[in-house]
Amino acid sequence: MMPSSDNIARARAHSNIAFIKYWGNRNHNLRLPANSSLSMNLNELHTTTTVAWVAAAEADTLEINGRPADSAALDRASAHLDVIRRRLGIQSKAQVASTNNFPMGTGIASSASAFAALTLAAVAAQGGELSERELSALARMGSGSAARSIPAGFVEWHAGDAHETSYAETFVRRDYWDLVDVIAVVSRRHKHIGSSAGHREADSSVLQPARVAGVAQRLGDIKAAIRRRDFELFADIVEADSNLMHAVMMTSRPPLFYWDPLSLSVMQAVRNWRAVDGLSVCYTLDAGPNVHCICEAADAAGVIARLKDLSEQIEILQSGAGPGACVSPTIPV
Ligand code: DP6
Repeated sequence: MMPSSDNIARARAHSNIAFIKYWGNRNHNLRLPANSSLSMNLNELHTTTTVAWVAAAEADTLEINGRPADSAALDRASAHLDVIRRRLGIQSKAQVASTNNFPMGTGIASSASAFAALTLAAVAAQGGELSERELSALARMGSGSAARSIPAGFVEWHAGDAHETSYAETFVRRDYWDLVDVIAVVSRRHKHIGSSAGHREADSSVLQPARVAGVAQRLGDIKAAIRRRDFELFADIVEADSNLMHAVMMTSRPPLFYWDPLSLSVMQAVRNWRAVDGLSVCYTLDAGPNVHCICEAADAAGVIARLKDLSEQIEILQSGAGPGACVSPTIPV
């Protein structure tokens, strides 16, 4: 059922892949991250969300891909709507309908695009006009990585030390460097521990302080690599940062192992394709077994062909850099 009201708006936001990862919070309630991070929006993977504020409604409702959401998803969305209600000074409940254009249950993160689209649609439906910075900070409260799905292109999230100073902004435009994320979906199994629970475990690893201490250097280096379009330097940092985050995960208590055997096969193969075949490709993994193969556009076809040769089990999604979140009266849900 589509929401119906005058106070209605629709927004689209894209998923993003982090090159410098967000893992761990210094303040869980405000989702103030342990470190700054940097990502690329994904043009082909997006969420479109319609929000209607309905004064007469007794409770928030949420539909995802045409079906009522489960109670965990509704509770999380409703908690975020509470934050938005407080910010906008309203009491109305919301009817929310959301669709993802990417396959659910592939372990491809949807919380970033979901909370960015929800935030923007909810604010727009009230006629609110917040700055991009404020929208990013607000989206962060729903899901940390959603802060990075508000601005366009290649995006840096400044960790900050308060709500107002923890927000993301564009580092360079999406057309600055023609990078493609070739996602090797190696398993459709659901995450045993989602990122929100994982962030709470980060500090139990003795390696987390070392990972966090090195972020400023890696962030500076990767920004230089992107500015110069220096793929070798970029690849070194992206893989090191992903390995460091997974080292923290594996040494947390209890330990978190997100990789499948096939994830490791793909990671090793990617390094060979770069070292031996000369392809501009590197890997990065989030809180799941799927491997994001980041490559220069000219090498995407070569990477896809090699992934298909490696295993019949691998399904492939691909995307170039994407725009920021936008309100649209015309996008069909
Ligand atoms: C591994 O943003 O999904 O993908 O704030 O609890 O929703 P919540 O966490 P989330 O964490 C993302 C973790 C990551 C790394 C990254 O995207 O930077």
